[in-house]
Amino acid sequence: MILLDGKKVAAEKRAELRETIAQLQAAGKRAPKLAIVIVGHNPASETYVANKIKACGEVGIEAEKIAFEADITEQQLLAEVSRLNHDATIDGFIVQLPLPEHISETTIMSAIDRRKDVDGLTPENVGRTVQGLPSIISATPRGIRELLAYYQIPTEGRHVVVIGRSNIVGKPIAMLLMQRPYLSLPSMSAASLGDATVTICHSKTRDLKSICLTADIIIVAAGCPKLLTADMVKEGVTIIDVGINRVDGKLVGDVDFENVAPKAAYITPVPGGVGPMTIVSLLQNTLQAYMLKGER
Ligand code: GUN
Repeated sequence: MILLDGKKVAAEKRAELRETIAQLQAAGKRAPKLAIVIVGHNPASETYVANKIKACGEVGIEAEKIAFEADITEQQLLAEVSRLNHDATIDGFIVQLPLPEHISETTIMSAIDRRKDVDGLTPENVGRTVQGLPSIISATPRGIRELLAYYQIPTEGRHVVVIGRSNIVGKPIAMLLMQRPYLSLPSMSAASLGDATVTICHSKTRDLKSICLTADIIIVAAGCPKLLTADMVKEGVTIIDVGINRVDGKLVGDVDFENVAPKAAYITPVPGGVGPMTIVSLLQNTLQAYMLKGER
């Protein structure tokens, strides 16, 4: 069993980013800038945002946190999105989710300029990704792809089972791994991953176990501790655990790691698997938005 060490891979990717950004600055260019909007005081969101800001600092991306109280109206938040869309000093921005009940996430996401949508969550970016057009790929799926590529885990012809149908993870990762690779490079890169046979499962799926038993790769993003157990996987499977749950004060994923890991060829730990890759993808997306700015 090989651990897919997202912490290590993310550190390498951060070093690459730091180098690229240092070179840009040495050539007299300004640093890329990311803004992060956070509404209310969700403790998990505050932790994620703090981690994102720290990661920006490590690679030389300027970060600005814009915090609002939970009683901000949808109109006021839309006005902020519009301001950020037009602020030439900001290359990309994200609105941390979840938002308070009285604000429609779809309305807010749809208002973000796709070229600044470094979370890759706007309907426009998702649609472009689905059609294989140049787009900003959402951070977690991009991170998963980078991890598979780093460990040279092929997806062509493999049966990938995705558990979870969220807009942030389940739907986009399923589309990406199913697609024809849109760049065929001689060496394996994230861009050449695809061509998988993908099954998407969710809370209403019948007999999840027998579907999972036919999977070569299982991606679990359901937010349910110990959802995937050892009797549900075949020997030699690859497991990507996207879950982040707190149980008895401990951070755990959606996989019964202790019992599943011995059967797996590759498996991500939680923490230290997909999480760090998601953050580094946000940084990569921010640099991508910065680079493309000249083309507007
Ligand atoms: N909430 C949990 N994960 C994410 C993410 O990747 N982006 C945003 N904007 N909100 C989140």
